[in-house]
Amino acid sequence: MARAAWRGAPRTPTVAAMHLYRSALLRFADDGSALYDEDGLLATAPDERGVQRVVAAGPWQALAARHAGQPVTHWPGRLIAPGFVDLHIHYPQTDVIGSPADGLLPWLETYTFPHESRFADPAYAAGVARFFLDELARNGVTTALAFATSHPGSVDALMAEARARRLRLIGGKVLQDRHSPDGVRDQTEQSLIDTEALIHRWHGVDRLGYAITPRFAPTSTPAQLAGAGEIAARHPGVWIQSHVAENVDEIRWARELFPAARSYLGVYGDCGLLRERAIYAHCIHLDDADRALMRETGAAAAVSPTSNLFLGSGFFDYAAADRAGMAYGLASDVGGGTSFSPFRTMLAAYYVGREGQTKAGVSLSPEQLWWQHTAGAARALGLEGVVGNLQPGCEADFVVLNPAATPLLARRTQAASSLAELLFALIVLGDDRLVERTVIA
Ligand code: GUN
Ligand code: ZN
Repeated sequence: MARAAWRGAPRTPTVAAMHLYRSALLRFADDGSALYDEDGLLATAPDERGVQRVVAAGPWQALAARHAGQPVTHWPGRLIAPGFVDLHIHYPQTDVIGSPADGLLPWLETYTFPHESRFADPAYAAGVARFFLDELARNGVTTALAFATSHPGSVDALMAEARARRLRLIGGKVLQDRHSPDGVRDQTEQSLIDTEALIHRWHGVDRLGYAITPRFAPTSTPAQLAGAGEIAARHPGVWIQSHVAENVDEIRWARELFPAARSYLGVYGDCGLLRERAIYAHCIHLDDADRALMRETGAAAAVSPTSNLFLGSGFFDYAAADRAGMAYGLASDVGGGTSFSPFRTMLAAYYVGREGQTKAGVSLSPEQLWWQHTAGAARALGLEGVVGNLQPGCEADFVVLNPAATPLLARRTQAASSLAELLFALIVLGDDRLVERTVIA
């Protein structure tokens, strides 16, 4: 099982606090290309807040002499890579994974809303939060943008647990004041008061961030969406998260409820909910004007391929997104998504890209897939150079992968003759067994 290996870092930076790791090393250049050192060095040291940061990364031979005398942890045969960034996940849906339904709306009604009503109980929420964060760590996910439920206590449970683990985690209370059953439906005015109180309580505390979280347009009144937009305007540093254009029935419903908007995405734009740090899950059935709006506003898509395949929602159009220049990254969308593992998500994204390719789309390389779940996802969050990479200055959240974790992985990765072959083998054959250790800065 993966473990958080470095806890309780000293608060004052000293040279003695520097630590060197020696192993194969993967990181990304600014243009998204992969940088790989077969015998690499990663040097970390605590900043003034006690957060470990990368101070050097590159070939061992070139850098080791400069850091002579510092303690070294040597992991021969292993690969150090940036911790994964999950751009969209629902912690209360940990126990909803694998619930089959005839599409999104029946899935919400039959399984998800009834289950989320249990998070009115803070003790229950705390128990799930602990399991959820353990599962992220086991799978090498070190940053997540997470939905809680409509109960403010569900946010407190997640944030308190994430803070204790020194995680960089962003989350928010779901806003849903209509078309939702008793037990999860909130009250317009109180929901906005609660949101602002939670921002004050959690945003910027240690490594935590808050996300204003309207579930999706059909379950919010225009007043609630407008109120969410006003809060966003008062707090430009907080994130926004929601769903859009996932399923054809959902889109028809949104259009009926908001007939004046140009499109479903336009509903959010009209309320001031499209901007940098706004992450919209799915974005499957957008048109080119929507994609241009995403680019112009700086909003980003959380591509959720295992969820889209499981719920039969459709295929994210990578080629159209790239033509428009809109930002995106990868997400599990647990529990519509079927796995916490970034390897499963990257493989599903590859399948989705292939489907797109039959319509003149793109074929995603393993480096691109990996980038979308690390540095690319961090860029979508506005956290480029902070998480999702191991360049100097980044917070040192990383995973230690064992490419020989299973007999087939050992055999296939040993035969890999290029970085692309190695990464592809890890993506296709990998899961939580690959993740030997998860190190939190
Ligand atoms: N749309 C509104 N709520 C949800 C949810 O919980 N999961 C997914 N996949 N889509 C949604
Ligand atoms: Zn979702």
